[in-house]
Order: sequence, then structure tokens, then C-alpha cells
Amino acid sequence: MASCLVCCIIVTSLFTSLSFASAQQGRAFFAFGDSLVDSGNNDFLATTARADAPPYGIDFPTHRPTGRFSNGLNIPDIISENLGLEPTLPYLSPLLVGERLLVGANFASAGIGILNDTGFQFLNIIHIYKQLKLFAHYQQRLSAHIGKEGAWRHVNQALILITLGGNDFVNNYYLVPYSVRSRQFSLPDYVTYIISEYRLILRAV
Ligand SMILES: *[C@@H]1O[C@H](CO)[C@@H](O)[C@H](O)[C@H]1NC(C)=O
Repeated sequence: MASCLVCCIIVTSLFTSLSFASAQQGRAFFAFGDSLVDSGNNDFLATTARADAPPYGIDFPTHRPTGRFSNGLNIPDIISENLGLEPTLPYLSPLLVGERLLVGANFASAGIGILNDTGFQFLNIIHIYKQLKLFAHYQQRLSAHIGKEGAWRHVNQALILITLGGNDFVNNYYLVPYSVRSRQFSLPDYVTYIISEYRLILRAV
């Protein structure tokens, strides 16, 4: 039951963003969310939620861990590939400068959820509202590079992927028996609550 609901939320996010339409040359791509789409941000953070050791990355072209929570490519990589774009770099990567800003950026951070308290046990991770702040910062940097109007147009034509919700179950509601959230809400009420919080996040993007 719970895992089905998680899937629904994730799939809904995929559809929300992918409905932004057709691929274009030179279009930017931005990813927000959790470990399903984190392309390495947590490697730059003091957190226990990390994918920096084998077998992560064993099927990646370099056969090395990249910070992706995957043996190989992750969902954003496959989307980039299909759009004919380079993979988006983690926003915290020092390599994300100059022309590479035009490709977009990946703001995702493993362990986070819709709720601010989800993933607290992982210490320093980038919660979703912080990801949106970093996105604003990215836009300032892009403006400095290509001008305010160009940056506005580039961001408005971009594809955005948001994948959130799984950790609100596995790393919050079901984290321990009698968790705070499970004492506070029945499962159906919890689902209603996180969907209402998700709506606020989507409005803030
Ligand atoms: C989560 O944190 C953000 C940013 O600090 C805040 O604006 C928001 O109201 C918080 N949400 C809840 C439900 O507390």
C-alpha cells in the first residue's frame, strides 16, 4: 500500500515536469529531489547519505562511484541522453561554471523529502526549500554570464524534473515503530498532508 503511494507520487512528479514538452537543441535541464535523481551533490556534504563507494557506479562509463545512487546512469542521465544533452552536473560541483551553466544543474540531495523533518538523521542534506534557494542563486550566476533577459528565457524554456515523496515514508513515517508522524497521522491522513505540502513546494518553484 505505502510503496504504491510512493510510486504514484514519484510518477506524478515525472509527468508534471515532462509535460513541459518537446526537446530542443540547447535547452537547459534542472533536477530537484532525492536520491533517485541526486547526481552527486551529497558527495560534497557532511552527510551519511552518500553513494561514494562500490558497488555504486560499477556500470557507469568510468566504472567508479559518482555520487549517483545507481550502479550506472540514473533517471536524469537517461533524460539528458534522450534530449541530446550532456548530463547535468551537481550544483555543488566546482566544475559547474561558465558555458556549462547553460546545460542546467542538478540540485537533488539524497535523503530529503517533501517534509522538512524527513531525513533529519542524515545531518547535512539539501532540503527542498534549500534546493529552490540554490536554484535562485544559479539564476543569478547565469544572469551574470549571459545577461538577465537571456537567463530568464533560458530558464523558462527549460525542462524541470522533481522527484520527491519516497523518503517521507521510509525515512520518516516508517523510520522507527511509533514514529512521531505515525502517531500524529493515520496513513491516509499522512498522504493527504504530504500532498498538500508538495503542492506548496510546486507553487514555490
Ligand atoms: C519548511 O521550511 C521552509 C523553509 O524554511 C518553510 O518556508 C516552510 O514553511 C517549512 N514547512 C513546514 C511545513 O514547516
